[in-house]
Amino acid sequence: MFRIQTLNKIAEKGLDIFPDDAYEVGGEITEPDALLVRSADLNSASIPDSVKAIARAGAGYNNIPVSLCSERGIVVFNTPGANANAVKELTISALLISSRNIIGGISWASTLSDQPEEVNNRVEKGKSQFEGPEIRGKTLGIVGLGAIGVMVANDAVALGMEVIGYDPYISVEAAWNLSRQVIRADTLESLLSKSDYVSLHLPLTEATKGILNAEKLHLMKKNARLINFARGGLVDENELLAVLYQRNLSAYVSDFPSAALLNCPNAICLPHLGASTPEAEENCAVMAAQQLKHFLESGSIANSVNFPKCRLDRSAPFRLLVVNRNIPNMVGQITTILAGSGINITDLVNHHRDRYAYNIIDTEQRVPLVTCEQLKAVNGIIRVRVIE
Ligand SMILES: NC(=O)c1ccc[n+]([C@@H]2O[C@H](COP(=O)([O-])OP(=O)(O)OC[C@H]3O[C@@H](n4cnc5c(N)ncnc54)[C@H](O)[C@@H]3O)[C@@H](O)[C@H]2O)c1
Repeated sequence: MFRIQTLNKIAEKGLDIFPDDAYEVGGEITEPDALLVRSADLNSASIPDSVKAIARAGAGYNNIPVSLCSERGIVVFNTPGANANAVKELTISALLISSRNIIGGISWASTLSDQPEEVNNRVEKGKSQFEGPEIRGKTLGIVGLGAIGVMVANDAVALGMEVIGYDPYISVEAAWNLSRQVIRADTLESLLSKSDYVSLHLPLTEATKGILNAEKLHLMKKNARLINFARGGLVDENELLAVLYQRNLSAYVSDFPSAALLNCPNAICLPHLGASTPEAEENCAVMAAQQLKHFLESGSIANSVNFPKCRLDRSAPFRLLVVNRNIPNMVGQITTILAGSGINITDLVNHHRDRYAYNIIDTEQRVPLVTCEQLKAVNGIIRVRVIE
């Protein structure tokens, strides 16, 4: 029986992943094998020794003390891409909102009810002030072609836009999923200078903070529109406000309001709604639960933020899982101890990431407790687990 402690309300569809006959799941579970969280802050919480994994149903993970978990051999999972469709849909609507003055038009129309007989007349007379261009045939530049960027790019192609993308670190998977009609920009500068619309879909890191600075903003076409559903800090806000007030950019649509942006007439701010859909919440819960289940039952790791991706097709009845520091001669010592205990290895995989490594070892015989203790005593081995 595996024991999962939930520290937040987790969507039912996610919890359904754990069959009742093999899992105990709930908020009050003691000595849990794994924790399932959304926003619960574990940074100053005491995490029991029984915990082998923590899954965060969401993309960010700054509520989890990742370095501390790595030191203790606790695998931390997140759910990248699970909310990508939600963000993509809002980005597509932002393209239209930035173009067609939908918000200005709606606000103005809502003022017309004071003269009921005149509504039609006033609509026809006043509507021209809200005219805006169509997006079909225009160029959309996408910065960051990950889970969200690729979806936006493909849907924009389907809407008849010319799409160019910039991502110097694009993953093989993203490249496979990207429409062949998307043109690669070799530099951010060339993308900015060619695009009528620019949409940001890259992470905020030390390297990308303020990536759209004064110089880059001035490369953008006059009257271009900038869409930001990634993070506010990617854009230098003071410089952005200057170009918006000078009307060098037609519109900025952002999911990250600030007081200054809220006062700027051509900035349109949403209250961080990108991933706020019931579907995204469910997708995150399902993905987090599936990752935990695979890890607990087979030792496989996918989408961990602190350990390498690792899986091995089952080749024997027993499986040994070892977490160790990434230092020389660890595999040698593990296999020597197993051989000394008369354990035959049928298959083995060892992957490392930064300072840590993870081993999945299939064995014909069950590794006895005494051998596990021997392994744990090796300098550099952090955690040992046996599953059947
Ligand atoms: N508004 C919201 O509610 C919301 C929700 C989810 C995600 N987000 C934001 O959207 C971002 C993208 O999410 P995702 O799921 O697509 O992430 P992802 O990790 O799948 O994709 C990010 C992409 O950005 C690329 N990249 C990194 N540095 C770059 C650079 N300097 N120039 C160009 N590309 C660069 C990476 O190679 C990667 O392909 C997240 O980092 C997050 O900040 C916002």
